[in-house]
Parts: sequence; C-alpha cells; structure tokens
Amino acid sequence: MQIQWYPGHMNKAKNQIQDRLKLVDLVLEIRDARLPQSSTNPVLEQIIKAKQRIIILNKADLADPLMTQQWLRDLQAQQQMALALDAQHTNKLQVIQSAVQELMQAKIQKYQQSGVRNYKLRAMCIGIPNVGKSTILNKLVGKKVAVTGNKPGVTKNQNWLKTTSNLELLDTPGVLWPKIDDEQVGYNLALTGAISDRLIPVQDLAVYALEFWQHEYPDRLQTNYQLTEQELVLPPAKLLVYLTQKWTGNDDFERASRRIIQDIRQGLLGQYTLDRVQVNGE
Ligand code: G4P
Repeated sequence: MQIQWYPGHMNKAKNQIQDRLKLVDLVLEIRDARLPQSSTNPVLEQIIKAKQRIIILNKADLADPLMTQQWLRDLQAQQQMALALDAQHTNKLQVIQSAVQELMQAKIQKYQQSGVRNYKLRAMCIGIPNVGKSTILNKLVGKKVAVTGNKPGVTKNQNWLKTTSNLELLDTPGVLWPKIDDEQVGYNLALTGAISDRLIPVQDLAVYALEFWQHEYPDRLQTNYQLTEQELVLPPAKLLVYLTQKWTGNDDFERASRRIIQDIRQGLLGQYTLDRVQVNGE
C-alpha cells in the first residue's frame, strides 16, 4: 500500500495554525480516542512550543474504555492534561470548562491579584478532520456555528465565540492533516473513517481489521461472525475468503470487506482502540 502524502497540505495547515496560535492562551487538541497516537501530528509539537494544551480524547463512546484509561494515565504521567469525552452525547461540556480553569490557574491568579475582573481565556480547537472539532465548538458555544474554515487554505476573519464561561474560542478550528508516515497509521485512520478508504484497497483494510480483532478482541469476532475455534484462528486472508463465501456465496471479496468495515464503524464489533500505549522498550 502506498498513501500519497502532500506536503503542501501540511505546510498550509501549519502556517494557518501558527498564525492563530499567537492569539490564544491555550489549545484544545482534539484526538480520536480510538487513535490517540495516529490522530495527532508531529508538526503540532513543533509549532505549539510553550502554549498550554489540553488533549481531549473524543469519541470515547466508541473506544475501548480500558485503553482510554491507559492512554489518560500515560499522558498524565507526562504532565500533560488530558481528558476523555463523548461530545456527541454530552450536552454541556463542563468537563472542558473545568479543565481550562485548572490549567490556566496561574494566569487567573495574576488577573485576580491585579484586580482585573472580566478577564477572558482564549482557546482554539486543533485536530485532524473528523475528530469532532465542530461538535465540541458548537456545544461549548451553545449553538450551531458555521465552521467555514474546516478545510485547509480557507481563510476568513477571525471572530471570537463566547461560551457560557469566561472562555472564548476562535471560530475556525485548526485543521491538522494526519501524518501518514507508516502503513499502520494509514490503515488505522482509514478504518475509523478519518481518511478516505479509497486510498487503500478495501480487501487489504478488511484483512488488517480481521487480524487486529483476532488478536485483540477475538471473542467479539467469534460471536458476531459465528466462527468455530478453528475458523477464528485462520490466517486473516483465509478468514476473509471464508467469510466471503459464507456471506456472498461466491467470491465477492469487495462486498464482504465492505461489510466488515461497516460493522466496525457502526460498532457491531464493539468498542475498540487501534493505538496501543507504548510500554518502554517496545
Ligand atoms: P471535525 O469538525 O473535527 O471534522 O468533526 P465533526 O465535529 O464534524 O464530527 C465528525 C463526526 O463525528 C460527526 O458525525 C459527529 O457527529 C461525530 N462525532 C463527534 N464527536 C463524537 C463523539 O464523541 N462520539 C461519536 N460517536 N461521534 C462523534 P457525522 O456522521 O459526520 O455527522 P452527523 O451525522 O453527526 O451530522
């Protein structure tokens, strides 16, 4: 598999975000809880420098809860404030508001000591496409905001959006492009729908998914696809052949592959986390 990578996209996004970073006190970096590693971007580390940041593992409702806890512990061990969120099903994102107040404590104290009362804390959401930036922005602001800048290269005047607290948000979320520097990251992003799955042959993606589920969540694979113990341990490409014949009665691998990917995206194979926390030495 080869995924075409366009450095132009990355540079545009980088410049756009860099300009906006100057205007804010902190960054809300949104990641997909199923991909805490693959849904970030090393460019962000370069440009964020001293800016304070809260990492939000969004779509936690779709992720493996045990893995999410591991990721949070790992980030917190690196002195990085982080929280898990299901922005789609949570009305007021009080958890973000509270985290912001905690992170900005020193600044708030300075304001208070110098008698400033109506101070504002300014933030922007950053993240790769589809992690839930617009959803979070809309819920923090309390109404649907037209996010026109959710494409690289789209520039417009910056407006500040008021939230229910002293937090103000830049209206245009910063769009980072994922850095697909290895095959696994590409597969992970495609499986969750973060990048188009047209970039990867659908059968390859299905075989990758089957192998992952055989290894990490075999019980669910066995139950959902009614597999015997022997079928469950078939080499993943052979398992795809078996399922194709079972479901389509012929060799329509594409249809069977699409079904597997759809089942995963619709949660039929359960909550899952594709990125594993790296243990020292791995
Ligand atoms: P973006 O601005 O970062 O590109 O992401 P956006 O908010 O547009 O969200 C992308 C998709 O993810 C949307 O679904 C949105 O509803 C969904 N989403 C956002 N946060 C969560 C979450 O915490 N959990 C789950 N399960 N889904 C979430 P969509 O199908 O593309 O749009 P729509 O049908 O919701 O309008």
